[in-house]
Amino acid sequence: MSFIVLCAGGHARVVIEALLSCGIHPAAVADRNVARIGEAIGGVKITGSDDDVLKMAADTVELANGLGNRASRSDSGLSGRRALFDRFAAQGYKFPVIAHASAVVASDAQLGDGAQVMAGAVIQPAARIGRNVLVNTRAVVEHDCIVGDHAHVAPGAVLCGGVSIGESVHIGAAAVVLVGVKVGAGAVVAAGAVVKKDVAAGGFAGNE
Ligand SMILES: CC(C)(COP(=O)(O)OP(=O)(O)OC[C@H]1O[C@@H](n2cnc3c(N)ncnc32)[C@H](O)[C@@H]1OP(=O)(O)O)[C@@H](O)C(=O)NCCC(=O)NCCS
Repeated sequence: MSFIVLCAGGHARVVIEALLSCGIHPAAVADRNVARIGEAIGGVKITGSDDDVLKMAADTVELANGLGNRASRSDSGLSGRRALFDRFAAQGYKFPVIAHASAVVASDAQLGDGAQVMAGAVIQPAARIGRNVLVNTRAVVEHDCIVGDHAHVAPGAVLCGGVSIGESVHIGAAAVVLVGVKVGAGAVVAAGAVVKKDVAAGGFAGNE
């Protein structure tokens, strides 16, 4: 079974590193920009477009989502990453969980299809991580947290115990969400923010 990374951006290089740390050498990177075919990123060649991957039988390949996001105050910026995952998952393609060898994942934590746990991240007991979630470098998801599908917990962010994060939420780098706080779907938490109370769906929590 060969492994293909979708989208040749900066996040793809982080994904490739995580795969290499587990002894998996991706066979190829695919990018919708056909002008990039022939380039290499992270030591892996861009061999074709997304459409070329869709010509391969779904049971002959495993995929990794290499698309990152750029959040703004009013938009978590995660729709592209979600659309890429949904496009291929709907056709039966598999996105295995990827956890960097240096990540710590509790034995009873649950991780959905395509969840990515990057270098140095820690996921503690009874945490439930949804599909296509990105728990980025050195982020911490404490015990009993729930992280909705397609969310991004950015580098160094900390979700304290029992926090609940909705779908497609962006938790900014080094933010801290305090015990039991709920963050509604699509909300954005600024880098470095300390979130003490619930955030509405589509809402914003910044540095006060
Ligand atoms: C909060 C954040 C999303 C704002 O991005 P943005 O919308 O592009 O920011 P802008 O500079 O255009 O500011 C838009 C508004 O939000 C306000 N704002 C920006 N950062 C803020 C913060 N940290 N706290 C409170 N308000 C903030 C600005 O003052 C501005 O308000 P105004 O319209 O009244 O002037 C961004 O600063 C951030 O923290 N991004 C997360 C980065 C991250 O986690 N990266 C991980 C990559 S792996």
